[in-house]
Amino acid sequence: MGKILMVLATRNKGKLAEFREMFKDFPVEIKSLLDFGSIPQAEEDGETFDDNAYKKASFTAKVLGIPVVAEDSGLVTEALDGAPGVYSARYAGEHATDKENIAKLLKEMKGETNRAAYFVSVISVAVPSGPALTYEGRCEGLIAETPSGENGFGYDPLFYYPPLKKTFAEMSIKEKNAVSHRGKALAELKQEFDKILTWIKQRLAETKPPCDHHDHDH
Ligand code: IMP
Repeated sequence: MGKILMVLATRNKGKLAEFREMFKDFPVEIKSLLDFGSIPQAEEDGETFDDNAYKKASFTAKVLGIPVVAEDSGLVTEALDGAPGVYSARYAGEHATDKENIAKLLKEMKGETNRAAYFVSVISVAVPSGPALTYEGRCEGLIAETPSGENGFGYDPLFYYPPLKKTFAEMSIKEKNAVSHRGKALAELKQEFDKILTWIKQRLAETKPPCDHHDHDH
């Protein structure tokens, strides 16, 4: 059987690596926006992870004219009333690096005894005409006092996962995917894969223009 093309609306190599690891035994080829050169990007100005995931997926599906998968994720802390939340990628400023975001979070959390936090991942699968399917995963943990570990991306060095006594940055991709927010959302997506393909085919058929009428009786 040929491979099914999955286009992921992201330029984040960390996310891409986790998607690829999750689907490595599946007949799926995953491309990202890094394979499409410069195309217009959706604005991530939604108030929720759901809004942003849907915006990214449907906008990119319209631009490319094919079904697209998008993921929006972030870190939610109890002590900071949910921050950095939907602003996770740009917590320390518009083009902030992971290091700058980590430094800002440590500063904001200084002296806080409530270190409880969770990661959220919302995955949206959209077709060019607009409709989308949504999957969500969460993972609870604690904000560490100091960064630890070299793997992963984003806030991984600060996100301590008590059951494994490690930060996400101290885990392999496989270990992280087994427990993480993204891993959980992706597991659901994988489980429903056949249904999703059927749903996509139906949506695409609905929006096709009526068949050309070939009249051979001139
Ligand atoms: P998005 O590309 O708008 O979804 O940005 C999500 C941001 O949340 C990332 O840039 C990271 O800062 C943070 N984030 C999401 N998932 C993870 C993760 O698995 N590990 C560490 N940071 C994450």
